[in-house]
Amino acid sequence: SLLAPAPHPLAGRHALVTSGPTHEPIDPVRYLANRSSGRQGHAIAAALADLGARVTLVTGPVGIADPPGVTVRRVETARQMLDACQSALPADVAVFAAAVADWRVEHESAGKIKKQSGVAPPVLSLTPNPDILATIAAAGPLRPRLVIGFAAETSDLMQNAQAKLKRKNADWIVANDVSPDTGIMGGAENAVSIVSADGIETWPRLAKDDVARRLAQRIVATLHGALA
Ligand code: CTP
Ligand code: CA
Repeated sequence: SLLAPAPHPLAGRHALVTSGPTHEPIDPVRYLANRSSGRQGHAIAAALADLGARVTLVTGPVGIADPPGVTVRRVETARQMLDACQSALPADVAVFAAAVADWRVEHESAGKIKKQSGVAPPVLSLTPNPDILATIAAAGPLRPRLVIGFAAETSDLMQNAQAKLKRKNADWIVANDVSPDTGIMGGAENAVSIVSADGIETWPRLAKDDVARRLAQRIVATLHGALA
């Protein structure tokens, strides 16, 4: 067509995005966490808002600014993140970029755990957190039409990404190698492959903002029916 593309192709659509780490309390002053910066998830929220979507960003604790034009729900734990995501439904598309803690401490201490001379260090017993992506992807009539997960791996990237696609009933998995030598975890760039039922699409190493814009364009094409 000779028509210019619509400036806001996601107008009228609702996008849910998770971002950042979760913090799982040990006691009132300590927690378990991970190295996620929130940069990729926040950039995706911003890119979707730029294309006209109404965006709900559910984020764990991060040190970066809220993206403009986005509704931000701040949470700490995985269980709070799941609650906030469920409350945000329905959504047309959901992108799960958060690095959710896989485990939490089974018995959070109400008071600060103290050292005691002659007493062995505490042993932390862990219990699994809910899988937010898998739960939302199984939400029946409330399942977003497009459910997109990430796979952060340090080995066997494609095999693990394909296994996650099936196990979690996602439509796409954005696979990224987070080995320390890549500088991706916490850095400004990302090198990803999009794994779907249609196959694997590998993108060059790009700024996280550009990965976000490209992902948002792919979402537009799919929601408008150009891709399966
Ligand atoms: N995810 C989630 N809730 C969890 C764990 C993961 O929503 N409790 C989402 C992540 O946001 C990501 C995808 O699931 O989109 C894959 O996360 P990842 O940590 O790579 O996979 P896991 O299934 O947790 O497996 P593992 O960490 O053992 O590789
Ligand atoms: Ca995990």
